[in-house]
Order: sequence, then structure tokens, then C-alpha cells
Amino acid sequence: SHADCNCLTWTISILALAVVYTVIQYRKSSKIKAHYAARTKVALRERDQSIEWARKETMLVSEDERKKIEAMDFRQLRDALQAGDVTAESVLQVYCGLAVKSHEKTNCITKIIKEALSDARELDQKAKDHSYKKPPLFGIPLSVKEQIELAGHRNTWGLAKQIDNIPKEDSYQVMKLREEGMIPFCQTNIPVTCMTYTCNNSIYGTSTNPHNSRRTCGGSSGGEGALLGSGGSICGLGSDLGGSVRIPAAYCGCCAFKPSPTRCSTAQIPFAIPMRPIITLTEGPMAQDSYAIVEMMRAMWSDTYISNKDPLTVPIDFREELFKEGKKFRIGYYDTDGYIDPLPGNRRVVREAVDLLKSKGHDLVPFSLGDIAAESCRGVFAIALADGGAKVLDRLKNEPLARMMMPLKLVLYVPMIFGKVAGWIMKLYGDSPTADFFMCPSKNASDVQAGIDKIYDCRKNLCQKMKENDIDLLLCPTTLSPAPPHSLPTTTPMTAMHSTMIWNAMDFPAGVVTTGSWTEKDETELESYPAHGILERALKKRCKNSVGLPLSVQIVAPSFRDELVLRVMVDLHEAMKERGDAV
Ligand SMILES: *[C@@H]1O[C@H](CO)[C@@H](O)[C@H](O)[C@H]1NC(C)=O
Ligand SMILES: *[C@@H]1O[C@H](CO)[C@@H](O)[C@H](O)[C@H]1NC(C)=O
Repeated sequence: SHADCNCLTWTISILALAVVYTVIQYRKSSKIKAHYAARTKVALRERDQSIEWARKETMLVSEDERKKIEAMDFRQLRDALQAGDVTAESVLQVYCGLAVKSHEKTNCITKIIKEALSDARELDQKAKDHSYKKPPLFGIPLSVKEQIELAGHRNTWGLAKQIDNIPKEDSYQVMKLREEGMIPFCQTNIPVTCMTYTCNNSIYGTSTNPHNSRRTCGGSSGGEGALLGSGGSICGLGSDLGGSVRIPAAYCGCCAFKPSPTRCSTAQIPFAIPMRPIITLTEGPMAQDSYAIVEMMRAMWSDTYISNKDPLTVPIDFREELFKEGKKFRIGYYDTDGYIDPLPGNRRVVREAVDLLKSKGHDLVPFSLGDIAAESCRGVFAIALADGGAKVLDRLKNEPLARMMMPLKLVLYVPMIFGKVAGWIMKLYGDSPTADFFMCPSKNASDVQAGIDKIYDCRKNLCQKMKENDIDLLLCPTTLSPAPPHSLPTTTPMTAMHSTMIWNAMDFPAGVVTTGSWTEKDETELESYPAHGILERALKKRCKNSVGLPLSVQIVAPSFRDELVLRVMVDLHEAMKERGDAV
């Protein structure tokens, strides 16, 4: 009949249209992916050429000179450069060689910056003039996380779609460090979107842990951690939104510092997730030792340079009166926050650090966070996906993702109702942290506001509790475990980051110092670790055989007391030296 005929025509037309649409979409996305693949080849070729160049440059330094420079720690290097015992040029050449060695081991470098050599020569030339006053960090090479703006160099965040994003100017923090004499000499690897704590992207591949290649170097400043943990740099600049300088430092065995967020500029950061401004991505130093961290922060805050560039930055100079040596502080400590228990070794190093800091005259008292860890974590999850993950999904659209990184995207595609159901099931099983991860994402603006209020309440309660107990700082675990296998971070709930993320939520400055490593005894004690939830079970099972992997502690103080944290980091280092550690 006429009606049947009409219906059939319609069906065929719609089907045909759907096929055409699918083909067009497929071709469009194939075209984009082919374009990315071609550009990736170019980026890799540039990286490899820069590494070849660095290999040749490093050969130009004499064996004796090289050995002399390699043996220097941060302060020795700084003093030698100030005194003119070594030139900025030869230091740079030596560090080019060390960085290449680290890269061969861990795949941590995205580019060596050739211009660094002319920067070094220019400094040496200036130094020949006797009226020239050397800046405090004269000639010290600086490695920089690829996500931080460097004029003229790729700034991809591990995203193929950003592969041709070349900033026109340096980040203000980098500008200031240049003013102070530092020379950015290489860029280091990051995970795609910089939103996880493992280190894989489709452009530069995976960076590995220098102490065990089957383990991750952490993230998102993962390349920085791998480079510093294997001696390829003496200090670097990373950034931290939920632990991104502290986690790689903890996994790879170096130091890191996340400043009070508003004391650094974030004006140039193009990518905000809904957590901003409650939680702000903050640039922060990573280094072989605490002394380097202090000198970088002292230089960064030596005047109002950064706040002049960006008036939204709080103009506070480095407060020497807070940092002064010999001050005794009252430090509260805990080896578990009561929300998720760290593995045995990660708790042990906190108890050891208590003794180390007592030996420096500080007063250490047990401290309990109460429900602040859990509540702040819930608050963060409530705001992190306030846009339903739209921003992150937009970034991941058409991105070639390694299988390991897929969960990052999949979790955002699952309708929220499934999350809620999964959450209820987890709750029934008594796995409260995993339940929080699934259930806390917000449905509407009221939920988001409730999350923000939760975080503000936690801030207020914590500050009050510290005041009531007369406590200046806190000492606590950095991470729940030593470096886990590469795929653990993307396949377990992000609750794993709560032990660092809490200090982003609280807006507290936080420092990390590596104080030891995982022992045979920790390995034995791991067997009796009570693994309650999904995350704990994964950690217990997959972090076995960790003997020798670095362990660290975290030191935090209320907002704008950055100098207190730096003081205690240095005291911890001093105490370790007195204990006889080679630090
Ligand atoms: C990391 O990413 C690269 C490029 O997409 C991929 O080839 C590689 O297998 C990934 N590594 C891991 C450990 O998944
Ligand atoms: C927002 O969503 C929550 C459930 O997540 C609901 O209880 C609440 O009534 C909603 N508020 C508004 C204003 O729609």
C-alpha cells in the first residue's frame, strides 16, 4: 500500500543518513588522528635530536671537571658558581649528560632546551665584568615540567590536540627564577591531562620509576620525579593540584614543596577544572634536597616581582623571621588519618621522623584529624565533577589513549545512577572511601555548594583544632604506599590521593622529604595489613616486593606559613645527616 511504501522509504532514508553520518564522523576522526600521529612524529624527532645534541655537548667537558661538578650537592654547586670555580656553561653541559642518562633509564625527558647553552654563556660573559653582581642562583640548571609555560616550547599537557601549543612567554615563576640566575634546560614528561598520578601519554609514552621500571614514577610531575630521583637534575619546577609534586617526589625519592596557592601566580594556566578556585593548581619546586627547595622559594619570593606581574598573587616576601634557625615548634603528628590506612612502611617513617624532629628540639604531640580527612575528600569529589566531567571529556575527545589511560575517560561516560548504585553496594560491603568516590559527585548546584561548604567547614575546624592544641605544624604520611605498578592509579578510586589532596583542599602549604626506604620488615608486616576496601586490597596485593623503594613524610602548616614548613624540612634533613644518612 501507499503507507507501507512511505514507511519503507523513510526507514531507508534514515538508515542511509545514519550510515553517511557515521562514515563522515569516522573519516573526520581518522583524519584528526592521522594528523596527531604525524605531529607526534615531529615532536619525537625534535626530542631525539635535542637529546643527541645534549650527548655531544656533555662530551666537551673534561673528565675531571665533569666528576667535580657531578659530586656537588645543591649548596656546593651554588657556592662554586658564585665563586667562579666552575662556569655556568660547564655545569649546564654536565647536567645535559646526566639528564640524558636519566632519560635512557626512565623516558622522563620531553625535550632538552638548546637555548640553555647560550643562556649559560651569556651569564658567564656577564660575570667577567667586575661590576656585575651575580644573582643568588647564578647558573643553576632548572628542569621544568612540560605543563608549565616556557616561551617557544611545546606545552601539551600530554594531549595530542595541544601538540602545537607553543606559549609566547614563560610562566611568571619561571621568569622570576631566570631573573635569579637559573637556566631552564629541559622539559619533563606528564600524564595525559595531568589529572592522574601515573605518567603515560600518547605523545611521549610512559615514564618509569628509576628504582624499578615496573613501577610508576608518579604524577603528574612524573618526569620531574624520575629525573630528580635518578640524579638527572639538581632542582626542578613542577605543579600540584592534588599531590602532583609530592607524589612523584615520594615515589622517586626526592623532595618537593607545594606553596600556599595564592603566593604563586596561576594567571597563565589555561585549563581549569571545576575545582578551581577552591583547589588551585600551584607551581612548586622539586629537588634533591630541602636546601635547594628553600633557596628556590627564597628567590621566588625575594620581592614583589610575581605579584607585580599578576596582582591576584598575594604580595608576601619570604618571611625570614618565620624561617629562622633554632626556633622550636610544636608539631602534631599522625601515621594514619583514620580514613584509609597507609601501608606499614609508610607509617613507620612517620614515627621515625618524630624522633628525628625531637632530636632537633621540636615538641612532637600525637594529633588526630577526626573526620576531617573523610569529609574533605567528600567535599572534593562533590565539586570535581560539578560539570559532569564535561571539561575533561572535551579534552579527551579524539585523543589517542593507551589502554592503561582508558579508565580516565570511561568513568566519565558511565551515567551517574550506576555510580550511585555502585556506591551503595560498596557501602554495604563497608568500603566507605570507595562509596564516597562513587556517591559524592554532584547532581545540581546545591550539591556543589554543599561540597564547597564542607571544605570550608573542614578548613575552619582544622585550624581551630590546631589553635586549641597550640600546634604550629603537622607531620603525616605522604602517600599510602611506595611506588605502585603503572596501571594502579587509573584502575583504583582516586581516593588514593586523599593523603596529599587534603592539603590542597585545606589550602595548606605542604612539603615532602624522603627519609628512608621500604625494608624486609615492612614486607613482612604487609602480610598483616588489614585490607578493608577495594583500594587497600589492590595496594596490599600489587605493592608487594617493594624492598628498597623510597619512603617519605609530609610536613604541613596553615596557609601562608610556608616558611615554617621549609624550616622543618631542613631540620629533618639536618637530623638525618646527624643520624648518619647519606643525604
Ligand atoms: C603508554 O602510552 C603509549 C603511547 O600511547 C603506549 O604505546 C604504551 O603502551 C603505554 N604504556 C603503558 C604501560 O600502558
Ligand atoms: C539536588 O540533588 C540532590 C540529590 O543529589 C537532591 O536531594 C536535591 O533535592 C537537589 N536539589 C535541587 C535544588 O534540585
